Amino acid sequence: MTLVSPLVVAASPLSHDAEAIGAAVAAGAGAVVLYSLFEEDLMEEQSAPRPFTGVDPYVQQIELLRKRVEAPIVASLNGTTPGGWTKYARSLEAAGASALELNLYEVASSPAEGGAELEFRQVDVVAAVVSAVRLPVTVKISPFYSSVPAFVRRLEQVGARGVTVFNRFYQPDISLDTLQVDRRVVPSTAAELPLRLHALALLSPFAKLSLACSGGVHGGRDAAKAILCGAHVVQLASALLEHGPRHIGVIRDALSGWLDSKKFKSSAEVRGKLGFGFTADPHAWERLNYTRTLHGWPD
Ligand SMILES: Cc1cc2nc3c(=O)[nH]c(=O)nc-3n(C[C@H](O)[C@H](O)[C@H](O)COP(=O)(O)O)c2cc1C
Repeated sequence: MTLVSPLVVAASPLSHDAEAIGAAVAAGAGAVVLYSLFEEDLMEEQSAPRPFTGVDPYVQQIELLRKRVEAPIVASLNGTTPGGWTKYARSLEAAGASALELNLYEVASSPAEGGAELEFRQVDVVAAVVSAVRLPVTVKISPFYSSVPAFVRRLEQVGARGVTVFNRFYQPDISLDTLQVDRRVVPSTAAELPLRLHALALLSPFAKLSLACSGGVHGGRDAAKAILCGAHVVQLASALLEHGPRHIGVIRDALSGWLDSKKFKSSAEVRGKLGFGFTADPHAWERLNYTRTLHGWPD
């Protein structure tokens, strides 16, 4: 997909509001990812602890946003087990989505399923969704794979066209007053960005698929760092929820300002300049950096 800007509205409740999405696109968003449609909403067997809501309200939201904004609308499916629900990807395509982001949000919770089995299961889900549609499918993954590069290569092999790094896990706190779990969503901070930068730099030299950065991008300079490390696009959720959809214009101006100050003509020109492509042995480089960093203390 060719986008007018590398700044993308990430999946979040913002996309329930067509006016807010219109404002984000007018301010410079290149594409919009919708909030997720969950596997649990689509399980007709009613085995899930949630009622079957079906695909219709989601399809209507895609159609509404398609009428309201020029930018491509990316539908988001959220699920982790292969099954009949994956066929609903077709309805999202028919409703006019330009691409699908499949969020594999999952916390490994069973001692009976090892890492390799879990990954096979997830790859099967991706393959099922890819084969259900003609649209490009991008996969939003967590940082918790033994080898993110190897998992991404497998996604590529089953036809994924992009990967979004990374899912942000909600880490509920404990209230010592009520002895209850505190589930409030805490917005991200820029401190979450370096984990993503590192993964992008590792992936960018070999990945044939498109790379999206999600997590910790709060300003134009954060976006510039992600692009330098290899991101084709940079997604924003917390920054827009905190400051409003027009804030994407502030981020776009800061990114353009930085590009101008360095005399770059476009973000495409800088993409991947800080990827690991310069070394034939990223593993040795990682070890070297690790020891250098430790020995550098306290300078
Ligand atoms: C309130 C809220 C709701 C979210 N809902 C979704 C969702 O439905 N699907 C999804 O894939 N990600 C969802 N996310 C995750 C964001 O898309 C994004 O990956 C994450 O917040 C990290 O990006 P950020 O640092 O820009 O917030 C949500 C995030 C927030 C804060």
